[in-house]
Amino acid sequence: MTVIFDLVLPIIVILIIIIFVSIMWPLLLGAAWSPTSVRIVDRMLEMAEIDSGDVVYDLGSGDGRIVVEAARKYRAKGVGIEVDPLRVIWSIINVYVLRLNGSVRIVWGNIFHQDISDATIVTLFLWQRTNQKLKIKLQNELKPGTRVVSYIWTFDDWIPVGADEDNRVYLYVIGQSNIIE
Ligand SMILES: C[S@@+](CC[C@H](N)C(=O)[O-])C[C@H]1O[C@@H](n2cnc3c(N)ncnc32)[C@H](O)[C@@H]1O
Repeated sequence: MTVIFDLVLPIIVILIIIIFVSIMWPLLLGAAWSPTSVRIVDRMLEMAEIDSGDVVYDLGSGDGRIVVEAARKYRAKGVGIEVDPLRVIWSIINVYVLRLNGSVRIVWGNIFHQDISDATIVTLFLWQRTNQKLKIKLQNELKPGTRVVSYIWTFDDWIPVGADEDNRVYLYVIGQSNIIE
């Protein structure tokens, strides 16, 4: 009985710590997890006019659904950056099961500290204040012409080149949307 207790208790404590970190860390760094519906994912990629030559970065990729859809449906390359270790493990397994490991890469890390310069499309579903903090990085690292598609939240002072107000999807293009900065 004591042996079981000695073994089980530390495992339970470790699991609680992992779940706690997995919930709290994203909250501190940018946004809580909330998945985008498949319909909206398709709308975001359509608005970006994705094609097979694109490299799609999803900043805060959750379970990886946007980059998986970009690779599965449009044959594009995808990079998902996610800080929550549990969702990173889940998305890596999913990418392998779907045999997309040649076209989708999942990175465990903070979006503010990752190189995103080879993106041609960036997707985001974060929070307004996180979008604001990301603006400088997007402007400094992304090439002119890179499409930035944000679900729900906008960028103050940037002018969207396309907006689907019903679905709350906003399209920005680097070099056009941020000219007043
Ligand atoms: C609202 S969810 C969107 C998930 C996914 N992009 C989607 O559309 O289904 C936001 C995600 O961003 C992640 N996140 C928040 N801040 C982050 C940061 N600084 N670096 C990496 N990931 C972050 C959260 O863990 C969460 O999974």
